[in-house]
Amino acid sequence: LLDTKVQSLLSKMTLEEKVGQMAQITLDVITKGKDRFTSDEPVVLDKAAMDKAFGVYKIGSVLNTANNRARTPEVWYNIISGIQKAARNKLNIPVIYGIDAIHGTTYTAGATMFPQQIGQAASRNKELIKKAAQITAYETRASGIPWNFSPVLDLGPDPRFPRIWETYGEDVHLTTVLGIEAIKGYEGDDNDINNPYHVASCLKHFLGYQIALSGKDRTPAYISEQALREYHLPAFKAAIDAGAHTIMINSGLINSVPVHANYNLLTKLLREELGFKGLVVTDWGDIENLHTRDKIAKSHKEAIMLAINAGIDMSMIAYQYETFCDNLIALVKEGKVKQSRIDEAVARILVLKYKLGLFETPVTHYKNYPKFGSKEFEQAAYQAAAESITLLKNNNNTLPLRKDMKVLVTGPNANSMRTLNGGWTYSWQGEKVEEFASKYNTIVEALKHKIGEHQVVYVPGLSYKMDGKYFEEYADNMQEALEAAKNVDAVVLCLGENSYTETPGNLSDLYLSDLQTEFAQKIAALGKPIILVLNEGRPRIISKIEPAMPAIVQTYLPGNFGGDALADILFGDVNPSGKLPYTYPKYPNSLVNYNHKPSESRSVVEGVYNYDADYNPQYEFGHGLSYTTFKYSNLSLSAVKITENDKLQVSVDVTNTGTREGKEVVDVYLSDLYASITPDKKRLKAFEKISLKAGEVKTVKFTITKEELAFINDNNKKVVEPGEFEIQIGGLKRQFEVE
Ligand code: IFM
Repeated sequence: LLDTKVQSLLSKMTLEEKVGQMAQITLDVITKGKDRFTSDEPVVLDKAAMDKAFGVYKIGSVLNTANNRARTPEVWYNIISGIQKAARNKLNIPVIYGIDAIHGTTYTAGATMFPQQIGQAASRNKELIKKAAQITAYETRASGIPWNFSPVLDLGPDPRFPRIWETYGEDVHLTTVLGIEAIKGYEGDDNDINNPYHVASCLKHFLGYQIALSGKDRTPAYISEQALREYHLPAFKAAIDAGAHTIMINSGLINSVPVHANYNLLTKLLREELGFKGLVVTDWGDIENLHTRDKIAKSHKEAIMLAINAGIDMSMIAYQYETFCDNLIALVKEGKVKQSRIDEAVARILVLKYKLGLFETPVTHYKNYPKFGSKEFEQAAYQAAAESITLLKNNNNTLPLRKDMKVLVTGPNANSMRTLNGGWTYSWQGEKVEEFASKYNTIVEALKHKIGEHQVVYVPGLSYKMDGKYFEEYADNMQEALEAAKNVDAVVLCLGENSYTETPGNLSDLYLSDLQTEFAQKIAALGKPIILVLNEGRPRIISKIEPAMPAIVQTYLPGNFGGDALADILFGDVNPSGKLPYTYPKYPNSLVNYNHKPSESRSVVEGVYNYDADYNPQYEFGHGLSYTTFKYSNLSLSAVKITENDKLQVSVDVTNTGTREGKEVVDVYLSDLYASITPDKKRLKAFEKISLKAGEVKTVKFTITKEELAFINDNNKKVVEPGEFEIQIGGLKRQFEVE
């Protein structure tokens, strides 16, 4: 039925109308004001600009916000209603609106903000991740927006890269499992995006983003097909199989080919092999970039031809939509882009608009979403923050602190909602968070609520410059902080990063800044118990100060309730249960992931050559302490030999051997002992988060299928080779054989 509707609509559309559907502009293009990019004045739709965009060019999609500002659901309703009205054409095709609601509804004032994906991954709590996505879908629809550019399914194996916090970390399995939870949360279990509480998800950034050789955003990556298929493809494949509706393309180059012009990836792999039926959208201005930045097209027109012929359906053009539309129309007329390619792309766009219910309800009404910003939603955000925070070190039970202690809270991250949230929070770089999140508690405020104003001394010591230079820091009153430290029982030292996203987060040095390092060293010299709180989007190297810190807590970017969750953990009301979703490196030249090759972790001296271990992390992937202790026993396998279609049943007993209730993440790792290409040391294959009372024992069971023993071989084929494998859970090991 849907096909018939779409075909019938297509048959009535002119080429101009079709090409307009393939164009997406930013809201700034159709708003007016003194300075519509920076001023705070209310957004005013510009009738003349809309007449041109929708009346003349028949633009089919709009994204983002104007003035880089968040607005209430009511204001959003008025904006999108105005757009739908202006865009109403003879065929009544609605506009589809999209935003980056990657940890909550980014541009809506009052929206519930969860930990960023990296923190969600640390929680390892599948139900919570799905719930966060459900709430985000609800609040995004409450803002009249049906399309969410989330989840990020790129792996984050390189902490130098500025968007690692937008990922689920370095592991393929973790990314795949959590990505599917997010999609189910956004789209519903049955992918019914007609449901007004669901949104269309957008998998990004297909394929091989975040692994640039330089570690900098949108710079070249060199990836073999074997590695692409082994590490980067599985999460996208699983998400496509799970029915996700749209996908966004990697802005960078792989092996010198810009992905936006890569027919092999966008058509042969994505469509023909993976069978993706949904919509492919570009990233920001990336068709223009084929000409202006990547130099594979001599003109804008050629760039458009390359991208559309490679398989792009919609161009996130941002501003120069006339160039896109006029050139694409000309290319079709000249026979350089086939009419059938246009029809195929537009059909996918129309299918999405029908499925989202936009033809009947072009904008959902905020009044139908009474739970927007509710306590129930806030509680879920708090829970996610509490389960994500990861206790990295706790010498001599420094934590939990006693509630009668007097503490100094210091550091540039101690009193900032901006640093707790990170980018894509009420503004692009998170630069306007304070304005919208003032009702929530920073770390200092949360600690004052917890133990009383009079027991908390706050001296920032250092500050970030808020002028758009994201890594500028200055010593505020370091000396005063050092003096204050002398008169307290403990110091909560809050260090890390200011918020950023995309290219502005590029770094030349992964160490924690010199100023923060100096500050930490001076505080440590006073000999007080210090709790180092890391509030950062990526693991900044701390090896120069780590030995002097008795307790270290990683908060990642925990969202609006991160301060409260941290206070509860520091004073023992919540038992920490987060686990690192990445390897925390110790040295900048040893950025080795947990699943490295054997040669990366041997430490032998042969003759004059010292093959020193590169894998010498500060903390391992999966590391995270608790206030209780767990013991693993009775690891058993259902067989020692498996054949063709066998499944291996694995079980293990976990006992809470401490004195208080706690949550534990049971990780199952698999090692292929010998293979035709050098196997990874070990790979995560399953995990489960369980809760155990003091003294309680639980048996946790997993099933390992033959599929999970497979790898991509030297001919880029997925194979299971006979031989010995080893299962590892909580330090226990068992071997089995595959025939
Ligand atoms: O969705 C984002 C993408 O992740 C980075 N560039 C801009 C897009 C739209 O805002």
